Amino acid sequence: MKVLILGSGGREHALAWAVKQSERVTEVVCAPGNGGMAQIARCIPVDLKDLDALIGVALAEQPGLTIVGPELPLSLGIVNALREHGLRVFGPTREAAMLETSKAFAKRFLQRHQIPTGAYAVCTTAAEFEKEIENFHAPIVVKADGLAAGKGVLICPSRATAIEAAQGLFNGRLLGTAEQQVIIEEFLEGEEISFLCLTDGTHVAPLVPAQDHKRIGERDTGPNTGGMGVYSTDDMLEPAMKEWILHHIALPTVRGMAEEDTPFAGVLYCGLMMTARGPQVLEFNARFGDPETQAILMRLESDLVEALEACVDGRLSETELRWSPGASACVIASSGGYPGDYRTGYPITGLDDAGRVPGVQVFHSGTSRAGNQLLTAGGRVLGVTAAAPSLEEALSRAYEAMAEIHFDGIYYRRDIAHRARKKQP
Ligand code: AMP
Ligand code: GLY
Repeated sequence: MKVLILGSGGREHALAWAVKQSERVTEVVCAPGNGGMAQIARCIPVDLKDLDALIGVALAEQPGLTIVGPELPLSLGIVNALREHGLRVFGPTREAAMLETSKAFAKRFLQRHQIPTGAYAVCTTAAEFEKEIENFHAPIVVKADGLAAGKGVLICPSRATAIEAAQGLFNGRLLGTAEQQVIIEEFLEGEEISFLCLTDGTHVAPLVPAQDHKRIGERDTGPNTGGMGVYSTDDMLEPAMKEWILHHIALPTVRGMAEEDTPFAGVLYCGLMMTARGPQVLEFNARFGDPETQAILMRLESDLVEALEACVDGRLSETELRWSPGASACVIASSGGYPGDYRTGYPITGLDDAGRVPGVQVFHSGTSRAGNQLLTAGGRVLGVTAAAPSLEEALSRAYEAMAEIHFDGIYYRRDIAHRARKKQP
């Protein structure tokens, strides 16, 4: 079977790497792909914002399965369109992806189905915002309704700064386009967990849990990024807690979407805050996380394609995911200056030596190829990922490999999994 993967980041490189291991797969095609994916798959240039171009690639390639990586094509309705053309595609429809693409929709859905989440208000004007804000105490979380690539969430120390933030969202100063809806949220405290599940619209199969590190700076300081590193172990969630999340969050979400005639099939990414009053949903994503996927897939022992096909065909209950015990970790190497301004086009060296460290895979996030030379091509450049029997070993392997890699301005956090390491005796 030929598999088409849409996307160009580390998540898609990891998906291509895992898909290639399946006995069912004869060819992997990536659109547009990146410098790393080009080493293991055929890449076709395409603009991920251009729905017609994406449809064109799929129709020309006629893959047996298409996997949609990022949220943007989901929000444009790529899954609806490919299905109409009779193609098999893994991911939610545009309507189901609203769990990610509209935070107002997600909050109202959670409330309708009594799924745990923080208090909130949806506001459509600055005047309404100023009235509603009286019901919240600082710090106050202010969010844009729509997709904003991590830039749409503002944690405000006072009501006055929250009002200023909301004005900036409504008038377009903050994100470039004027928001129609701005959400006020209760500030939740605790540890964040990325709880990802595969679902066929009825059944749910959790993946191993992971913890992302969103801030650019060590000890979680500085601005938010797409994710600077992640780790996964079995003991980051007790079995009873995992069951609780499955039965009180993931399953009711999938059931609720089905009841509302917008069944959700694909990956349901539950972004959870583990608070004193239990796990609360911070947000949903309608796709695999990046860099969660790099660390999660390093621990998957069973066939990924088999599981994704089961989701598309509505027979997920017949498949079983098998995981290697132990741990994995992914450390992101980014361009100096990211998430602000940064330059690209710098040569990358040391990848062969990095790849020779046992248990290590280097997934490319933003790279391009010029002849034999690999160049930096994005803010997040590489995801150095390692699996090992213990978290300590996974981290030391990842950092050993990272030490081999060089490019101008390379920056990475040296404290990935600092919370877990602090807890260890
Ligand atoms: P989101 O894009 O909704 O995941 O938000 C980005 C990040 O902002 C999350 O990963 C959290 O670290 C933080 N965040 C979002 N909502 C809240 C909240 N209600 N309370 C505390 N932190 C939040
Ligand atoms: N790592 C967070 C995300 O994929 O949204």
